[in-house]
Amino acid sequence: MKDFTVTNATIEDCEGIFNLYREVAAIEGGLARTADEISEGYIKNFVSKSVESGIIIVARSDGKIIGEIHSYAIGAKVFAHVLGELTIAVHPDFQGFGVGKAIFLELMRQITENRPDILRVELIARESNQKAIKFYEKIGFEIEGRMTNRIKSVGGGFESDIPMAWHRK
Ligand SMILES: CC(C)(COP(=O)(O)OP(=O)(O)OC[C@H]1O[C@@H](n2cnc3c(N)ncnc32)[C@H](O)[C@@H]1OP(=O)(O)O)[C@@H](O)C(=O)NCCC(=O)NCCS
Repeated sequence: MKDFTVTNATIEDCEGIFNLYREVAAIEGGLARTADEISEGYIKNFVSKSVESGIIIVARSDGKIIGEIHSYAIGAKVFAHVLGELTIAVHPDFQGFGVGKAIFLELMRQITENRPDILRVELIARESNQKAIKFYEKIGFEIEGRMTNRIKSVGGGFESDIPMAWHRK
């Protein structure tokens, strides 16, 4: 058991989220970006877009951000009912303790209750990340296809990306 709290994030949380993403990205097979591709600009960009048009939630333990999930509007008016670019990351020391489930369920609760304008939420997971894909299916996401060889692995070779979506019932 690990104790943690779940709250919505603000722009003030950029530094804590940056540190989290650096540590999660250091382990290959989860996030698309490698640790050296996690820049302050990358973090600030998704935090500000999520605060403005979407939802961003963090989990904290002893004051440190140990989990984060976000999704935001993807731009054009034709996509006004969609939240996309969903990404979730839990610190390696805290994975498997229910943090990911808690922040993902909170994100979906806020969308269901507070964002009736949102009818569809999108994410993409690499095919080898079966732990994550099964987890997303339990939350209510459906596999919508297979983007063949979209991912170039660090050690060479390619793998497919799996687009998934949740639809408001
Ligand atoms: C994927 C990730 C967000 C899940 O968060 P987590 O806090 O580890 O997950 P939880 O402990 O809340 O478990 C959620 C579900 O995942 C599954 N799960 C957790 N650990 C697992 C493991 N070691 N093996 C298989 N399934 C596992 C379980 O089905 C669990 O659901 P349940 O509680 O109904 O059994 C986290 O592991 C992570 O950040 N991974 C690296 C980055 C990444 O892959 N991001 C997603 C990119 S698409």
